[in-house]
Amino acid sequence: MTSSTGREAAHPINPIFLNRWSPRAFSGEAVSEQDLMTILEAARWAPSAVNFQPWRFIYGIKGSAEFDRLLSLLAPGNQRWAEKAGALLMIVSETLTGKPGDEERKPIRTHSFDAGAAWMALALQAEMLGYRVHAMGGIDYAAIPDALGLPDGVHIEAAVALGRMGRADDLADDLKAREKPSPRQPLSAIAFKGKYGG
Ligand SMILES: Cc1cc2nc3c(=O)[nH]c(=O)nc-3n(C[C@H](O)[C@H](O)[C@H](O)COP(=O)(O)O)c2cc1C
Repeated sequence: MTSSTGREAAHPINPIFLNRWSPRAFSGEAVSEQDLMTILEAARWAPSAVNFQPWRFIYGIKGSAEFDRLLSLLAPGNQRWAEKAGALLMIVSETLTGKPGDEERKPIRTHSFDAGAAWMALALQAEMLGYRVHAMGGIDYAAIPDALGLPDGVHIEAAVALGRMGRADDLADDLKAREKPSPRQPLSAIAFKGKYGG
């Protein structure tokens, strides 16, 4: 199975998994609040351990002070292209049950795993609405807690740029060269029958 991106699946899968990729060329058009809510609604329905739902999203739509603040929290190399996104999100997760100040807060061991599931749900919902999404771990981890008012026990996961696809030709040459869907390891390298390394 081959997709319009040129990616090939070794086994039959829904084309959305091949078609989603992480471009850097965004159009600069603001994402509508309504579409953003639909995208976040999809994330809301992700599964999580004990249904704790530890994911949290801090968002800003292009053209707003919130967007500019989130942009300033990205690594300079990501700011170069993410400034043209239609919305930016910071995904964080609660690492403890309950609320700050509660007496017996217990660790949520799967907080990152659960937030990862929510991220993929939002990525696929965005794709279904014709948006592209690009996650970023290149962010200013030291500045984020204060800038976004994170309480104790909240873990920074990743930022996400979201928007309509732009023209690769509008990117700087070094970014343009990287503007293509990436390949994957073969299934045999990542899926093992019974024992690691199988
Ligand atoms: C958690 C996470 C962090 C990432 N950090 C960055 C980043 O800081 N900058 C960047 O340009 N791409 C970043 N990426 C994009 C990955 O490089 C990309 O997802 C990966 O190469 C697979 O390509 P694809 O998403 O196009 O299929 C990140 C992706 C994830 C999931």
